[in-house]
Amino acid sequence: MKKVQDHFFNQAKREGFAARSVYKLQEIDRKRRLLHPGMRALDLGCAPGSWLQYAAERVGPSGSVLGVDLHPVAAKLPPQVRLLTGDVFSLSARDLLAEGGGELFDVILSDMAPKTTGIKQADAARSATLVRRVLSLARETLKPGGACLAKVFQGVEMKALRNEFAEAFERVSVQKPKASRGESVEVFLLGEGLRGG
Ligand SMILES: C[S@@+](CC[C@H](N)C(=O)[O-])C[C@H]1O[C@@H](n2cnc3c(N)ncnc32)[C@H](O)[C@@H]1O
Repeated sequence: MKKVQDHFFNQAKREGFAARSVYKLQEIDRKRRLLHPGMRALDLGCAPGSWLQYAAERVGPSGSVLGVDLHPVAAKLPPQVRLLTGDVFSLSARDLLAEGGGELFDVILSDMAPKTTGIKQADAARSATLVRRVLSLARETLKPGGACLAKVFQGVEMKALRNEFAEAFERVSVQKPKASRGESVEVFLLGEGLRGG
């Protein structure tokens, strides 16, 4: 049986984060330096809100974070965070930019996951569709030079997704943070240096 309340779960509770997933972003951020004070960040699939809490702290009061999810977020968040409840397939790049204050984002984070069916190939295919949506929004809402981190359920599309990221970004890597359970098929595709023009 799976150990539900693991080390990261307990740590998140102790440190006041809404979910254990915060440590995935924290590890990647510490390694790749994605978030800095004053940045404008977009967090797709932000509920229950631990990435928002972390990103808000990192960008600070001079930065901003726009969080988007199908579900409302109950976590207590600082004033630099704005929330939009909606589906990334219905929201346009223009909607996101307008909600984020009109300027392009410095970084896009996506921890979006499809509702899982238990059928690996089907779940991976849905995850790939979400990642392609993230990439398409990134092309329209991210600053040249910006970075995009997106969760992917590994499957037959993984190589194609990596290639699509490589077309859009100068550098692409696959991240598997320690807080991501070993048995989980999830990894994170990181694109850095959005090609401009
Ligand atoms: C693993 S959770 C994100 C956890 C979050 N990063 C945190 O740290 O609290 C994945 C989220 O993706 C959202 N999601 C999935 N499909 C979506 C879509 N099409 N549009 C917006 N959000 C979506 C789900 O509602 C869910 O809240």
